[in-house]
Amino acid sequence: MCRLRPGATVVEIGSHQGRSTIILGHAARTVGARVVAIDAFVDGRLFGGSSTRDRFEANIRAAGLTDVVELVVGYSTRLRPSWTRPVDLLYIDGKHDYWTYVDDLRWSAHLPADGEILVHDCFSSIGVTSGTLVKVLAGRRYTYVDRSRSLARFTLRRPAFKDRWRVVAQLPWFLGNVFLKVLLRLRLRRVAGWFGHRGPYDPF
Ligand SMILES: C[S@@+](CC[C@H](N)C(=O)[O-])C[C@H]1O[C@@H](n2cnc3c(N)ncnc32)[C@H](O)[C@@H]1O
Repeated sequence: MCRLRPGATVVEIGSHQGRSTIILGHAARTVGARVVAIDAFVDGRLFGGSSTRDRFEANIRAAGLTDVVELVVGYSTRLRPSWTRPVDLLYIDGKHDYWTYVDDLRWSAHLPADGEILVHDCFSSIGVTSGTLVKVLAGRRYTYVDRSRSLARFTLRRPAFKDRWRVVAQLPWFLGNVFLKVLLRLRLRRVAGWFGHRGPYDPF
């Protein structure tokens, strides 16, 4: 973020109630950048729902970020084909199925040549991880840089062999996360605890 220039645009896909938007917004403010927050806010189990939009707007107001954050309501997959504005940093945390994630990666067409993409729930969600294996491990456009827990960073560069290997090296951590999720779905929290997992929530 600190490498962004004043006037730069951060696009966040999947804002929900604005938790990550607020973090991005405060960081963007320090460099004079802006955040475009995209969320469909449709009702349904996998989406936030219309009341989430009200909560998002209230949270952005409470954080004093209304001048930094611009909300765009819609599906990322429908907005993408007609999007014309440049993007300086892409943050992906929308729908976690393979097809939506792979489509969201295509927003990178608006990034500069050395642009970066942050992906949340990478190597913890099955859809996001399978998209990463296909597009990053087996592709030519994205290089995996690093991660902090499940927040992974990619850059637009053809990956060398060692870059692809670093993706493979994340797979044990991914498989461990899937194993813990299965235990939690089976309500085996105590067993998950034996493997070091604390709390009722999925590992991320
Ligand atoms: C995991 S939540 C985002 C969490 C948020 N980044 C945070 O840190 O609190 C996913 C969000 O993506 C939104 N979403 C899902 N599919 C979408 C799509 N295709 N386009 C835009 N938003 C989408 C949902 O409405 C939901 O609010």
